[in-house]
Amino acid sequence: MTGGRPYYITTPIYYVNDAPHIGHAYTTVACDALARFMRLDGRRVKFLTGTDEHGQKVARSARDAGVDPKTFTDRVSLNFREMTRLMNISNDDFIRTTEERHIRSCQALWQELERRGEIYLGHYKGWYSVRDEAFYDESELVNGKAPSGADVEWYEEENYFFRLSAWQDRLLEFYEKNPNFIAPTARRNEVISFVKSGLNDLSVSRTSFTWGVPVPGKPGHVMYVWLDALNNYQTAVGYPDTESEEYKTFWPADLHMVGKDIIRFHTVYWPAFLMAAGLQPPRRVFAHGWWTVEGQKMSKSLGNFIPPQKLVDQYGVDAVRYFMLRELPFGSDGDFSHRAMVGRINGDLANDFGNLAQRVLSMIAKNCGGRVPAKGPLTPADDALLGAARRLLPRLRAEYAEQAFHKALEAVFEVVAAANRYVDEQAPWALRKTDPARMETVLWVAAETIRHLAILMQPVVPTAAGKLLDQLGAEARDFAALDGAPLVPGTALPKPEGVFPRYVEG
Ligand code: MSP
Repeated sequence: MTGGRPYYITTPIYYVNDAPHIGHAYTTVACDALARFMRLDGRRVKFLTGTDEHGQKVARSARDAGVDPKTFTDRVSLNFREMTRLMNISNDDFIRTTEERHIRSCQALWQELERRGEIYLGHYKGWYSVRDEAFYDESELVNGKAPSGADVEWYEEENYFFRLSAWQDRLLEFYEKNPNFIAPTARRNEVISFVKSGLNDLSVSRTSFTWGVPVPGKPGHVMYVWLDALNNYQTAVGYPDTESEEYKTFWPADLHMVGKDIIRFHTVYWPAFLMAAGLQPPRRVFAHGWWTVEGQKMSKSLGNFIPPQKLVDQYGVDAVRYFMLRELPFGSDGDFSHRAMVGRINGDLANDFGNLAQRVLSMIAKNCGGRVPAKGPLTPADDALLGAARRLLPRLRAEYAEQAFHKALEAVFEVVAAANRYVDEQAPWALRKTDPARMETVLWVAAETIRHLAILMQPVVPTAAGKLLDQLGAEARDFAALDGAPLVPGTALPKPEGVFPRYVEG
């Protein structure tokens, strides 16, 4: 369904220096759940992901691989595209910063900044980390390294600068007026104190290498990779054509989802660039936490990067998606362990939700002729369960609006638990002989509750939820169908099959 209030959501664009790992899959899955939720809620969604292909880091990786940067980025970018397929991601566009549309867009942004006197030629002298693609002040270094632990290099060259220092007060005013711009709150406070401590002008061009967007009219200069990268969010909605239908519909973006390491670029530089060019900053930036693996930081030296393919092969894509969004309060750091994963799969998915669906559907298959049971008069217990299911949507809307996936899932599983209790208490198997009409009503109530749960779980476990809805004979699947299209007694149902298999140690 399209036509609802537009919603534009983006993932960071991934550096193509490396293969995708669970950290990348995490951000993308979280955005996918939001994009799917908003579409099901009737909103017109644009969901963007892609790859960040310029800069020294990528140029060096290409050199190390012994190929030219173009061949290298074509190859690695494909791995990220492949990751979207693997994780069942519903992105509407996939942007590469080496595309023509993006080069044109960055050059237009540059010219606008220049025209407004926001860029000047100067001399840069200082520290740079290629791994972070970031400049550091002497005072920020920790034991001669970047705060992230990355190596830094000294460089001096002629660069163009953006007058970031002039934007300090306007940025602070913007944060003040838009309290939801940065989330979670701890990150917002960090950013505000960073900006309050004073901003230096930012070097936005480089002359010592060529793998970047050429600065218009300034031979020898390529744009700083973060100016180029951040602008991908505008390119994808048609910038510099700010009068296009696409731009007017989707800009400013509703949400840039990022990891906590890149919050400063998104909440300081990016709104400053945009405001300086007379454009609107995005509405919100949410910084999620970082995963460790079995208690350890992922690193090249430990060789413990987990490729998403490995997880999907081992656990299945829906289970991985569910785990990622349920295991941690979104925004906090957490640990990815086999044990925790199996706990979620066998506990929440197989025992709680899967078992509920399985026992209700198989009782219907056996005792109701494989058709949606007849619905008789409802008791207070029936109304209580259906009421709890119906109250989920407003609650989920509120949690998704805050990117609180774990709370949204908790809410759904409260109703899963209530439904299991209901089935235990009503004991439809005992009613089969004593009161078959009541048995049918109980099974109808349980199945109708499962229909609600499956519809609401689609953003997180799209395949399993879809199969469950097939087995319930439920055709309408968007949120309008929650109250709008209850199960119709007598509808023939396919043979039930488990949709949440248990994980058995091999
Ligand atoms: N290219 C930049 C983003 C430009 S956006 C205009 C970049 N790319 S990245 O590939 O290095 O990282 C992309 C995202 O992956 C970041 O949001 C980062 O936080 C996330 N993660 C990388 N490792 C991670 C974990 N171990 N855990 C969770 N997320 C992690 O930065």
